Amino acid sequence: MNYSRIFFPNVVETGEGAIHNTPYWVKHFGGNRVLIITDKNIRKLGFPGIIKAGLSKENIEAVIWDDVSPNPDLLTVRKGLEALSSNKCNLVIGIGGGSVIDAAKAVAVAAANGSDIHECLGLYKVLKRALPKILIPTTSGTGSEATQASVLVDERTDKKVVLYSEYNMAETVILDYELTYNLPPRVTADTGIDALCHAIEAFASNNSSSFTDSIALTAIKKAGKYLVRAYKEGNNDKPARRGMADASFNAGVSFCGAGLGAAHGLAYPLIKYNVSHGRSVGVFLPWIMKYNLPYTEEKYALIATALDESCGSLPQKEAAAKSVVIIKKILKDLNISYHLKDYGVKKEDISAMAESAFLSTGRLLKSNPAPVTMENAKEIYKRAF
Ligand SMILES: [Fe+2]
Repeated sequence: MNYSRIFFPNVVETGEGAIHNTPYWVKHFGGNRVLIITDKNIRKLGFPGIIKAGLSKENIEAVIWDDVSPNPDLLTVRKGLEALSSNKCNLVIGIGGGSVIDAAKAVAVAAANGSDIHECLGLYKVLKRALPKILIPTTSGTGSEATQASVLVDERTDKKVVLYSEYNMAETVILDYELTYNLPPRVTADTGIDALCHAIEAFASNNSSSFTDSIALTAIKKAGKYLVRAYKEGNNDKPARRGMADASFNAGVSFCGAGLGAAHGLAYPLIKYNVSHGRSVGVFLPWIMKYNLPYTEEKYALIATALDESCGSLPQKEAAAKSVVIIKKILKDLNISYHLKDYGVKKEDISAMAESAFLSTGRLLKSNPAPVTMENAKEIYKRAF
């Protein structure tokens, strides 16, 4: 049976300089010693230091732990738990990209449940409310600050594992636009196409609802208007940066409720070729949209119109097909190739890659509007080559 759920953080505070309100929310949620989870790049940019100094003025001690690397594994979460307990912290702040935020949520959940992170994995197995957590994204893409999921890697099997829990939802999300103003172009492109893919897959998902649809469509419109601008203009186009931060959060809310689709389902093996998560889903997006077209013509026509108003006057079938053309153009403008061969994938690799993606992310394929069998997955990989 298909179903839709709605999850939402307790508080979402949005605006330039909102990071300076972090101490208010720490006090509000009873934090007296705080673990600020981040990575080394973000620490260098100084944002965690700003939070620590603000807390210090309120006589709240904070420890910065910056050992999260991209695609965090279970060992990273265990080390975060050690940092949390050795410093006797009772509130977690996650500030960074999706990897940092996923790790921070997992640390807060496992800490409150007194268990190894392994026991918290899976769908809604966590029994106790997590430690309070404040999530502050520094990129505009993953939407992790808005979701109930932590995506992690089990280092023993090298497989992707997920922790889904309503207790993963933030007590406060702080969307401070200023933190994204100086994102490098490549990060802007990779994370931004991830956000657009979240919104498109949530909108077309078998598990979507009118609530998730309206938020997804808003995200698609904003990303269509602002993503390429933010990539090309960077710090010179602040409205585009703000638009993408909003698009990313909205897309996160929509896919948190509606789920994702086959672009996310088939993309994971590309990470082994040093392709970022966002870029990998971007590679598959036009191929999956083309594959899905006959099953979701009406929604794809609406996507095309959200991305380009002039499609509203086209017959539905034509507008739906145009959505794929528009996505290819956006990818081109972002200098993202949608061909696997451009990422070092060899023809002989693709069958095993398709099999591994199919077996490890079947959950995402269920919400995809068109059914995807193992044979279909291999065929899509071949087309994407
Ligand atoms: Fe994603």
